[in-house]
Amino acid sequence: MTRRVHILIAFALGISLAGCGIADSDVRDPAVLDVPTGFEPIPIPDHNPLTAEKVALGERLFFDPHLSETGTVSCASCHLTEAAFADPRPISIGVHGRIGERNSPSLVNIGYINLLFWDGGALTLEAQALAPLEADFEMNMNLGDLISRIGEDPSYAAEFDEAFGEGPSIQNVTQALASFQRTIRSGGSRFDRFEAGAVDALSAAERRGMELFNGKANCASCHAGFLFTNQAFENNGVAFTYPDSGRARITIDPADFMEFRVPSLRNVEKTAPYMHDGRFATLEDVIEHYDEGGSDVRNKSALIEPLRLTESEKGDLVAFLHTLTDEVILTGLAP
Ligand code: HEC
Ligand code: HEC
Repeated sequence: MTRRVHILIAFALGISLAGCGIADSDVRDPAVLDVPTGFEPIPIPDHNPLTAEKVALGERLFFDPHLSETGTVSCASCHLTEAAFADPRPISIGVHGRIGERNSPSLVNIGYINLLFWDGGALTLEAQALAPLEADFEMNMNLGDLISRIGEDPSYAAEFDEAFGEGPSIQNVTQALASFQRTIRSGGSRFDRFEAGAVDALSAAERRGMELFNGKANCASCHAGFLFTNQAFENNGVAFTYPDSGRARITIDPADFMEFRVPSLRNVEKTAPYMHDGRFATLEDVIEHYDEGGSDVRNKSALIEPLRLTESEKGDLVAFLHTLTDEVILTGLAP
């Protein structure tokens, strides 16, 4: 799989790395990511400077099923390019057909997300990668076996050497995967063209939908900013399904019961089904949920109330959500 990744090589700039405290000896072709207009810079951790070599290696690892016990499940099995790196199945399925617990979220613009997983249980992309590799219902891979398996492939050995100056290790695998995922960014939707001044990029119905989104329907109070998420943990009134108590799983605080990280809505047309458990098959179902003010559940956010939208307003809202699709990212090409 080839992927055109635009990275601005920053070795000549110095400035972008000067403030980051990276020792010269750690820097192998340091690069910064070009981001779409209107987007903030993507934070790159000091301990894992971005390089084109790590990104290329991370991409190869991401799409490689040999990283799983059975050699059949890659990261991309549950994060499909054509689904904006989400999974069309309500609940992801791992090795031996084992069924997981949650719907796989889109990884588009994941480099901006502060706390990973629906419940915020992973702090960095580097740390997160270990979870699917080891989980018995995902890739079920013994980490020692993983390193020996990769080490047996001479072309991998060469790529690790180029990226890290040494052979494969768990740290290198997770750093490469994280580096690749930071490059999955997207801001090329019709909505973005509209924001940039192309007034006719949106139809009248889509513009009405945008007004509802920001106004009467109150969506923007949580789905805010250029990613359409304020990254808060909220209870939007989906009925409780055992055993998922959301954010409270991590914090053990009843005040966080059934709260999930507000998802980005970029490319939402392509990331069905919806919510942490994939309970809604269509965006129309999602709008019905909000129109009714969600289910009557403990800890529901005060922002979730019946909306009493007309049928045509519901249609306009769905039409607006469709304008957030970036066709380019769905082909596997970075913007
Ligand atoms: C069997 C399906 C499956 C496989 C394989 C898989 N994932 Fe995931 N991924 C998921 C699910 C489900 C979640 C959500 C889990 C949760 O929130 O508890 C997730 C969440 C994530 C997240 C956090 C997204 C967010 O919005 O917070 C990242 C990053 C990620 N996966 C990367 C990877 C990488 C890298 C690999 C390969 C090493 C991988 N995944 C393999 C199903 C999968
Ligand atoms: C109180 C904050 C809040 C408000 C207001 C809100 N949402 Fe959400 N939204 C969330 C949370 C939290 C989730 C994830 C819940 C889950 O996974 O169970 C979510 C999920 C979604 C999803 C599913 C995305 C996916 O990838 O699964 C869509 C679509 C969505 N919201 C659209 C809207 C629209 C349209 C409105 C306005 C009518 C709205 N939201 C209002 C917090 C909010």
